[in-house]
Amino acid sequence: MPHDAAQTAKTLPLLSRRAGPLKGRIRVPGDKSMSHRALMFGAVATGETVIEGLLEAEDVVNTAKAMAALGASVVRDDRGHWHVRGVGIGGLTSPAGDLDFGNSGTGVRLAMGLMSSTPLVARCVGDASLSRRPMGRVTKPLAQFGTRFETAEGDRLPLTLHGARDPKPVTYTLPVASAQVKSAVLLAGLNTPGITTVIEPVPTRDHTERMLTSFGAKISVAEKDGARHISVEGRHELKAQHIAVPGDPSSAAFPMVAALLSEGSDIVIENIMLNPTRTGLIVTLQEMGADITLENRRQAGGEDVADLRVRHSRLKGVRVPPERAPSMIDEYPILAVAASFAEGTTRMEGLEELRVKESDRLAAVEAGLQVNGVITHSGRDWLEVQGGGAPGGGTVKTHMDHRIAMSFLVMGLASRIHTSVDDSLFIATSFPGFTDLMNGLGARLQPA
Ligand code: S3P
Repeated sequence: MPHDAAQTAKTLPLLSRRAGPLKGRIRVPGDKSMSHRALMFGAVATGETVIEGLLEAEDVVNTAKAMAALGASVVRDDRGHWHVRGVGIGGLTSPAGDLDFGNSGTGVRLAMGLMSSTPLVARCVGDASLSRRPMGRVTKPLAQFGTRFETAEGDRLPLTLHGARDPKPVTYTLPVASAQVKSAVLLAGLNTPGITTVIEPVPTRDHTERMLTSFGAKISVAEKDGARHISVEGRHELKAQHIAVPGDPSSAAFPMVAALLSEGSDIVIENIMLNPTRTGLIVTLQEMGADITLENRRQAGGEDVADLRVRHSRLKGVRVPPERAPSMIDEYPILAVAASFAEGTTRMEGLEELRVKESDRLAAVEAGLQVNGVITHSGRDWLEVQGGGAPGGGTVKTHMDHRIAMSFLVMGLASRIHTSVDDSLFIATSFPGFTDLMNGLGARLQPA
């Protein structure tokens, strides 16, 4: 596992060379957001939840271990299906040891919400990247339920959570556009008597609302004055579900852009989840002139799903408006790589949340572009990328960030000179098998 490997001070530098056309039909691993949620909701449901297509990557495996440490039974069968026997609402118990969430903000923040209205004590830890990320955005609203936290300086990990014995329902307006914060508050509401409401001025990914509905939660969504009001009535049992997790659009983004950039490419990425709160990158690439078609559109597990056919395209620069940011928040690094090969300049706005991801992604992306000869400009919450092609030749610092690593490996496929990344181990936090999958399409990724 990369977290453990990183702790033994190992890194895995990779190099990516210009490749010929990419061809083939592939599947990418299951959606990360849905995978975390399926495990967590299964853990507090009654009965056995069965999950097919779970993302078996380190972030999600850490969530599975945390749910087991809190009292649920979590077992993988030899067909790769995960079976979660839940403890019921309010049934989680104090873990014997630390809960280690590795690199995952979603894992720790959602789990904090889930635990916070149950009288248990849990110490949450993570790797160096996660320990730098702000937790105050979650501890603040959760404290309103009556939960107590002891945190490291600056509201960071490691932290000890003392769940509320007598939780009080909360109405909370999100100060940042964050699905993790929204979800943490709603999950705290599950074991809180009365109605907990989150007011969301800017819509973010809605997997929590959709999946809680399928588990039978008493949850409702209303539009008022342009904001979404999401309410959950607590202390109702959830019913175990059978969940088929479709492919992660945030992972599909890498082979998608690779095919757009490599001349002669024509690939199909099958079974991709296309929830409208996640499709900002596809919309943007299509505005840039990308040839992406959605084939075989269907519904699966309460979500829109399709196969994506992607062919090499000449792209042109565009302005990406700030209101689109929540629907493509994880895709800006790979969009910036695509923009560096477009004709003209691409300007991306509303990027303040990129500063608090697995790395400061705005800074990491800009540094990676510049070291490969791309001209950029930036401000606190915006980035401009001058297109025309990346000369390449640089080694990119990935800062324990999987998406920075994958983005710049894609850049190498179309650069004049190869590109390298200083470490690719963290790719396994979200996309196990990335290198082999890309090489199977015709890419040339190899140890540096
Ligand atoms: C996620 C929400 C987003 C996203 C993350 C997954 C989720 O984070 O960046 O990769 O599953 O809820 P924020 O809520 O911090 O924007």
